[in-house]
Amino acid sequence: MRLRGKKGTRDELERQTDLIVLDPRTYKGRWAQRFGNGNPIHVELGMGKGRFITQLSAQNPDINYIGIDMFDQLLHRGAGKAVKARAEHGRPELNNLALVLFNIEHIEDIFAEDELERVYLNFSDPWPKKRHHRRRLTHPNFVRKYIRMLNNNGEIHFKTDSEMLFEFSLNSFADLGLRMRNITLSLHRDGNPAFNVMTEYEAKFVEQGKPIYRCEVVIGKAALDRHEEALAQADKPAEKPADKPADKPEGNSAVQEP
Ligand SMILES: C[S@@+](CC[C@H](N)C(=O)[O-])C[C@H]1O[C@@H](n2cnc3c(N)ncnc32)[C@H](O)[C@@H]1O
Repeated sequence: MRLRGKKGTRDELERQTDLIVLDPRTYKGRWAQRFGNGNPIHVELGMGKGRFITQLSAQNPDINYIGIDMFDQLLHRGAGKAVKARAEHGRPELNNLALVLFNIEHIEDIFAEDELERVYLNFSDPWPKKRHHRRRLTHPNFVRKYIRMLNNNGEIHFKTDSEMLFEFSLNSFADLGLRMRNITLSLHRDGNPAFNVMTEYEAKFVEQGKPIYRCEVVIGKAALDRHEEALAQADKPAEKPADKPADKPEGNSAVQEP
């Protein structure tokens, strides 16, 4: 992402204490206090210009959102989008979003064990050279950190346009023995699904006709139990209404399945 520097941006960020967090280490284990409630916390790692996290936070007032990036300019853009998204949703008073300036490599310095419910990884830098593979945000070294920070309901939601990164990530999750679901090689095959909020990068790639790869990783025990239950329900044969006679075999009724 190319960024043009702008004088005074840091001063502006320092003034926006309601949205911007420049000292996130001080909130490790205390994010609930910052938000003033015990609502679940969802984090986007590498939020870019912030379209995704600002839209979600305006849509879901009962979830606390944290967007993280390492560039002043991006946080500044994100803050502007947050104000706009709240106004569009008629919720200017919302206080469920924090935009954090931080290097994700040290993510364990700002979140305590079990502090998060969801980690979003959207169009993370693919780092295509093999010698850089440890920098990929889905490398097992990173994923182990996320697992520690995620609680009983914890999940990772990951989407990318990079076939290489998707392949690498599925292997990384599998190597850690993690459970994946809703894997798709073309999220937009039948148009944008109702649940999906697009990121800036995603909108650009979809316009270019590129496929978007996506999967969810189910981490927490309660999340796994819910997933198992949903699978069992989906597997059950549909019940016939009591007053409807059982279907007769078609054709010669003497011919029966053994
Ligand atoms: C390709 S962009 C995707 C932005 C956004 N998620 C989207 O889909 O539009 C990746 C973003 O991750 C951020 N990023 C990459 N590595 C990071 C790190 N170690 N710490 C913080 N942010 C990082 C970059 O600054 C950039 O904004």
